[in-house]
Amino acid sequence: MSTHVGDLARRRPRLTRVAVGRYLLALLAALVLYYAVLPFLPWEAVRPGSALGQSLGIVAGLLFLAAAAFSPAKRIRGLLHYPPIWMDAHILVGGLAALLAFVHAAGRVTRAPGWILLAIVGLLLLGIYGRLVALRLHYRGFATPAAFQPASPDAAAALSTLVAQKRALVAQLAPAAAEGTFSLSPAHWLRHPALAWRFQLLAWVEERQVYQRRGLEGGLALWLRRNWRLVHMSFALLTLLGIAAHVVVTLFFADYAAAAAGEPDVYWWHFRR
Ligand code: HEM
Repeated sequence: MSTHVGDLARRRPRLTRVAVGRYLLALLAALVLYYAVLPFLPWEAVRPGSALGQSLGIVAGLLFLAAAAFSPAKRIRGLLHYPPIWMDAHILVGGLAALLAFVHAAGRVTRAPGWILLAIVGLLLLGIYGRLVALRLHYRGFATPAAFQPASPDAAAALSTLVAQKRALVAQLAPAAAEGTFSLSPAHWLRHPALAWRFQLLAWVEERQVYQRRGLEGGLALWLRRNWRLVHMSFALLTLLGIAAHVVVTLFFADYAAAAAGEPDVYWWHFRR
């Protein structure tokens, strides 16, 4: 018998790991192909500030903004019905944005704005790790023999105190929610920042205790598994700040940008020199 929730879950278009992998490989192949033919294309038409190049830069910048917006969208009530759609859109749009940014740069990857490209590579690598690797490791962690050993009385007592503290916080943050399935959303952070922060700290402590009990503590792989989101978001912030700075320089300090790029004159659309 199918439940309403079951129906919804089936209707969700969830990209599989294989589909995500294929999509990213296709983007990479397109980029390699484009960079291979680039030396044979008319430079005036494809350079970063040409009509085509600059337009691609703008589209890439807008797509990065959209990808950044899709991520919190899945946590906003009302847009919540199909969270996997937002996650899939985030991956599809973010990947395309990265490709277009490299096409826009037209091979000038070692120039000053090239560090934005470095941030983009970091962003993608962490995203790929998060989507394709982290979850697998997570499940493997739950399948360790240690997961089925009874907890020591001390560990069990510590965990039950912690869960009681979390329950008390959930009762204030979202009275209708259950501690076991509750997760913080932007609305909680906005309405009750102090409570949300206390809950987050307890969730981290609980996570550490669970991992330690499974004998999974230590090593870069585990550090990454717990922190990849933070690193991914730091690269995202760097990318967006880099794009903002680059847009300001090329559009409002065009003479300076031309000199830095070794161009005799400003050849792109801009507001002031
Ligand atoms: C999306 C991320 C972006 C990256 C990674 C990026 C990267 C680059 C790189 C590496 C160059 C070559 C610099 C050089 O030749 O010295 C460049 C040039 C240029 N970019 Fe972008 N860009 C991005 C977005 C944008 C956006 C949104 C605009 C819109 C105004 C823009 C406008 C330009 C212009 C006008 C040039 C030619 C001037 C120059 O060469 O410095 N770019 N970009």
